[in-house]
Amino acid sequence: MRTIMVINAKGGSGKSTIATNLASYYACQGHKVSLVDYDPQGSSLAWLKARSSINRPRIQGIDGTAATVNPGRGTGYMIMDAPASVHGKDLNSLVRHARTFIIPVLPSPIDMRAAADYIREIRATRLISAKKGRIGLVANRGRDQTRIFWELDEFLDRLREPYVAALSDSMNYVRAADKGLGIFEMAPAATALHRIEWEPLIKWLESRSSQP
Ligand SMILES: Nc1ncnc2c1ncn2[C@@H]1O[C@H](COP(=O)(O)OP(=O)(O)O)[C@@H](O)[C@H]1O
Ligand SMILES: [Mg+2]
Repeated sequence: MRTIMVINAKGGSGKSTIATNLASYYACQGHKVSLVDYDPQGSSLAWLKARSSINRPRIQGIDGTAATVNPGRGTGYMIMDAPASVHGKDLNSLVRHARTFIIPVLPSPIDMRAAADYIREIRATRLISAKKGRIGLVANRGRDQTRIFWELDEFLDRLREPYVAALSDSMNYVRAADKGLGIFEMAPAATALHRIEWEPLIKWLESRSSQP
């Protein structure tokens, strides 16, 4: 079973967006998927609730803030949505649940600075320092041709962890979230660009370099 956590200390960086889209992608590929929401805000579980009223491949929802987290038998992918602002001992415990980590970063000086600090904290956790987990970086809400996006691009390039994908800023993500869908479940013509943007992230997730 693959265990993939989307994590960043900042709220609003795109954790729930990426977690729900990944869950939808793997469910559409025919895999048995669990979506674990560790965030008390419960965005991923709310997304699943919206999804339950439409006829789409099923995803098991798990409240990670409850005492036990039990993926169903035969689960191929466990996608985890982390809360914001987890540090210290709590961060050490949280990361133990996964082996692959996706860190989304927004094109903003404040977010980039905060991400640099948080990546350092994550590297220092027992799991990552023992090389039992792999991290991939994702630029989120990029707008091409903007200077701040190029700064984010350069910033992510300079970090030690692989910079695996850049997702654009698009209302399609907002619409999908509202309906309990992923962008892979929306009209192909309207989401052609997003599908291309997700390719390197999916490829990295399928490669050995995302698995310790
Ligand atoms: N690539 C994107 N394009 C447009 N809106 C986005 C994108 N990523 C996230 N959002 C929006 O930004 C807000 C915060 O994203 P969310 O995934 O909830 O962040 P987090 O879980 O890290 O707090 C949400 O309203 C979401 O729909
Ligand atoms: Mg969230």
